[in-house]
Amino acid sequence: MLSHVRLLFAVGATTTSHALGNLLSVLLRRPALAERARREPALRAAIVHELLRFEPPVANLPRLATGPLAIAGVEIPPGTMLLLGLAAANRDPRVFPDPDRFDPERPIEDVLTFGFGVKFCPGSHLARRELLTALDAVLERLPGLRLVDEEGAEPEGGTLRHPRALRVVWVATG
Ligand code: HEM
Repeated sequence: MLSHVRLLFAVGATTTSHALGNLLSVLLRRPALAERARREPALRAAIVHELLRFEPPVANLPRLATGPLAIAGVEIPPGTMLLLGLAAANRDPRVFPDPDRFDPERPIEDVLTFGFGVKFCPGSHLARRELLTALDAVLERLPGLRLVDEEGAEPEGGTLRHPRALRVVWVATG
């Protein structure tokens, strides 16, 4: 029981906090979209979904081939370690036209951000809810929050992806 609880903290906290960093990075560098999201709460869930496609915090997943298999015509012998690019699959132009464009209004398609199959992330709904709640709080309670320095704001990292730093200012009014 204890090891389960420990696992939930490890896999549930870093992933979601990195995703929130990515969300703020994307929005703070698109002030017009942030302003629109502030005025149109109904758009926010789609922004979270598009964020999870565009900048997933877990970019790659390792797998071990337990039997012979072929992927895209390439024979993979048993025992081979594979690194599967979730972030790359989320930008497959056959599924997501113009994939490098952040577009919360694109048709909703499944993304690979939370894995697939029997090990699909059991925290996906909680994570989406947390991101939406955080987005509501930032937009409604910190209007005018803006980035003052782009240095470190672009998400980076081959396995876990997140911005190194988000330097912002916010002027309290009222
Ligand atoms: C944006 C946030 C999150 C992302 C991107 C994410 C991503 C993933 C991915 C890709 C996997 C599959 C790992 C694999 O197939 O090897 C996974 C598994 C898992 N996730 Fe998440 N996760 C997130 C949030 C959470 C939260 C909030 C919790 C729980 C509080 C959670 C709990 C788990 C657990 C327990 C597993 C292991 C499932 C298994 O092996 O059967 N995750 N997650």
